Amino acid sequence: MLKDKVALVTGAASGIGRAVALVWAREGARVVVSDIHEEQGQETAALVRELGSEALFVRADAGVAADNEALVAQTLRNFGRLDAACNNAGIGGVSAPTADYPLDAWDDVLRINLSGVFYGCKYQIAAMLQTGGGSIINMASILGAAGFANAPAYTAAKHGVLGLTKAAALEYSAKGVRVNAVGPGFIHTPMISGLEQDPATHAALLAAHPIGRLGQPEEIAELVAWLASDRASFVTGAYYPVDGGYLAR
Ligand code: NAI
Repeated sequence: MLKDKVALVTGAASGIGRAVALVWAREGARVVVSDIHEEQGQETAALVRELGSEALFVRADAGVAADNEALVAQTLRNFGRLDAACNNAGIGGVSAPTADYPLDAWDDVLRINLSGVFYGCKYQIAAMLQTGGGSIINMASILGAAGFANAPAYTAAKHGVLGLTKAAALEYSAKGVRVNAVGPGFIHTPMISGLEQDPATHAALLAAHPIGRLGQPEEIAELVAWLASDRASFVTGAYYPVDGGYLAR
């Protein structure tokens, strides 16, 4: 599905980002793996190679504009083009109600989860336009479409990702760059392991997903792979929940 495509994913040392890298590799893409964590990022790159695809690890902080610019530049130096990008890096932030939410925690979440997606899009779009187009997939959340108590920064950032996705899609779809957002429900990754450890919270999370379980990273990666491919050629400016029915309640 992605044969000969060059595809970049941020936050790929763990969880959903690693799963995206591996499904992309399975589908034949050459994969640029990026994260702030070098050792685990290199592990993801090694797993991509085990699947028979080329991989390049680039350390980059998604919340720093210059790192995003350098990441795209290195991709072009290595592979000569960029066909798909998944802006996936993100953090959960602290859990606190709005009036008590620490100012520095707000800044961190917005910098990584929203500004980071903007920086990614900015440099990725410029690169894709040079070679006739591409596909960008921004990792939002169900909390891009619904509120969640004690997560004001995360909820605001993910809603922002939807707005940014729509604006960029309007600007660039006619030039060949499709831009979409994906909204995972609660997925088994290190990001939510704290929530899963508390039995009452875990039970509440299960109850919030009509399918009766939480998701697996690969179940998000399958959609990301399809959106990256030419099979999704008429899909742009859209938001796709992958949430076991969470938003249908
Ligand atoms: P994770 O914690 O397993 O992986 C996140 C990765 O992002 C880690 O490898 C981490 O090192 C990296 N990262 C963090 N800050 C970074 C930065 N500044 N620059 C580069 N890399 C950075 O988390 P998970 O669950 O795989 O999350 C991936 C994305 O999916 C995030 O955007 C998250 O908000 C989103 N998401 C996750 C859900 C879940 O339930 N796990 C639900 C909905 C959305």
